[in-house]
Amino acid sequence: MLKIIKKFWRWFSTPSRIAIGVVIVLSFFAGVIFWGGFNTALEYTNTEEFCSNCHMNDVVPEYRQTIHYMNRSGIKATCSDCHVPHEFIPKWMRKFKATREVYSHFMGHVDTKEKFEAARLEMAQREWARMQTNNSQECRHCHNFETMDFTQQKAVANRMHSFALTENKTCIDCHKGIAHQLPSMKNIKSGFLKNK
Ligand code: HEC
Ligand code: HEC
Ligand code: HEC
Ligand code: HEC
Repeated sequence: MLKIIKKFWRWFSTPSRIAIGVVIVLSFFAGVIFWGGFNTALEYTNTEEFCSNCHMNDVVPEYRQTIHYMNRSGIKATCSDCHVPHEFIPKWMRKFKATREVYSHFMGHVDTKEKFEAARLEMAQREWARMQTNNSQECRHCHNFETMDFTQQKAVANRMHSFALTENKTCIDCHKGIAHQLPSMKNIKSGFLKNK
C-alpha cells in the first residue's frame, strides 16, 4: 500500500514534460480566449451603438447633426473618442464611473428628456472640468496645433488659435457645445461662465 502511495506521489511530483507542456499550452489558449472575450466586451462598450442604447432620446440626434458625425473627409469622431480616455488607468476609472450611469438609468433618475435637460448643466460642467484638467487630450488625439495650417483657417480661427498658443488655452475653453446643444443657461447666476 505504502509502495503504491509512494509511487503515485513520485508520479505526481515529477510530471512528465508532455503533461507540463499540455498544461502550459491549454492555459495559454484559455488565457487568450478569456482576454479576447473580455476585450471584445470592453470594445463593445466603446461603440456608438452601445451609448445609443441609453442616449438615443437626448444627445444622439444632436450629435448626428454635427461635423463630427459626418464630414467631407469621412473621418468620424464617435462618443468614446471624446468621452473615454485611451490610457489604461483613466479608461478604467471612466468605466467604473459609468456604473453610476447604468444605475441611474435603471433607477429611472434621468429617463426622460425633461429630467435630462434639468441635469444637463451639471453634467456638462463635469465634462468641461474633466477636459480642462486633461488639456483636452481627447481632442488632441485627432487635432494638433503643430500640424494645423493656421493660414488655411478662417481669420477668426487663425487669430484665436495663435492667442490660444501664447495664452496656453485649451480647446474646451473655447469649443464648448461642439457635439451637442449647450445646456440651457437660464438658471445661471451671473459670473458663472467666467470660471466654471
Ligand atoms: C445604461 C444606460 C447608459 C449607457 C449604455 C450609457 N450612458 Fe451615459 N449616462 C446615462 C445616464 C442615466 C446618465 C446621467 C446619470 C447620472 O450621471 O446620474 C449618463 C450620463 C452621461 C454623461 C455625463 C457624465 C457626467 O459626468 O455627468 C456622459 C458624458 C455620458 N453619459 C456619456 C456616455 C457615453 C460616451 C456612453 C458610451 C460609451 C454612455 N454614456 C453610455 C446612461 C447611460
Ligand atoms: C476622432 C477624431 C476627432 C476627435 C476626437 C475630435 N475631432 Fe474635431 N474634427 C475631426 C474631424 C475629422 C473634423 C472634420 C474635418 C474636416 O472635414 O474639415 C473635425 C472638425 C472639428 C472642428 C471644425 C468645426 C467646423 O464647423 O468646421 C472643430 C472646431 C473641432 N473639430 C473641434 C474639436 C474639439 C474641441 C474636440 C474635443 C472635444 C474634437 N474636435 C475632437 C476629428 C476629431
Ligand atoms: C481662444 C479660443 C480657442 C481655443 C483655445 C481653440 N480654438 Fe479652435 N477656434 C476658435 C474660433 C473662434 C474658431 C472659429 C469659430 C467657427 O468657425 O465656428 C475656431 C475654429 C476651429 C476649427 C475650424 C477651423 C476653420 O477654419 O474652419 C478647428 C478645427 C478648431 N478650432 C480646433 C481647435 C482645437 C483642436 C483646439 C485645441 C487644440 C482649439 N481649436 C482651441 C477658438 C479657439
Ligand atoms: C467631438 C467630441 C464629442 C463627441 C463626438 C461626443 N461628445 Fe458628448 N460631450 C462633448 C463635450 C465637449 C461635452 C460637454 C458639454 C458641451 O460642451 O456640449 C459633452 C457632453 C455630453 C453629455 C452631458 C450632457 C451635455 O449635453 O452636456 C453627454 C450625456 C454626452 N456628451 C454623451 C455623448 C454621446 C452619447 C455621444 C455619441 C452619440 C457623444 N457625447 C459624442 C464632446 C463630444
